[in-house]
Amino acid sequence: MLATGSTMEPVYALLRGADLDFSLANTFNLDEYLDGNQFREFMDAQLFEHVNICAENVHFPAIGYDALITEAGGIDLCILGIGVNGHIAFNEPGSSVNSRTRVVELDASTRVRNSELSGEETPSKAISAGIATILDCKRIIVMASGEEKREAVNNARYSDISDKCPASFLQTHSDVTWLVS
Ligand code: GLP
Repeated sequence: MLATGSTMEPVYALLRGADLDFSLANTFNLDEYLDGNQFREFMDAQLFEHVNICAENVHFPAIGYDALITEAGGIDLCILGIGVNGHIAFNEPGSSVNSRTRVVELDASTRVRNSELSGEETPSKAISAGIATILDCKRIIVMASGEEKREAVNNARYSDISDKCPASFLQTHSDVTWLVS
């Protein structure tokens, strides 16, 4: 599963410059704005237009997403960012550990930050893979960078597991690697 966001840009730069064979790769993005395609455009520009991935193997959240993932044999690797408020994908505080792909309401703080980054108004709703969808992935890498993420990263890794910090549910997964700078 693939994340969008500024944290991921150097990752996709590395991948598109590495002369890798994507012809057999299947990708499932973590989230997208409802009725929007900003994240699809981000992925096209950052990665998909530069590599030999097959168009039919690129997936974005939609109805039946979890069944589609199961049909594909599950997810080997999930690369996650983390929001300043501890969200993963668009699972905002209050998200259930049992959540699957669904329409979600975005936090006001998420909308403000994402508007600042994109220069566009952020929609109020998105479709996001759920916490359970993410925890089903065999291996998870979480990336976070900068002072503004410090509190979210500390809560996620060392505080009690709680829906107040959705990333704290990652403590229940047996194969999570944190890359923090
Ligand atoms: C976004 C996305 C997440 C992303 C996170 C962090 O809103 N929904 O998938 O990981 O927030 O973004 P950034 O890397 O820009 O800080």
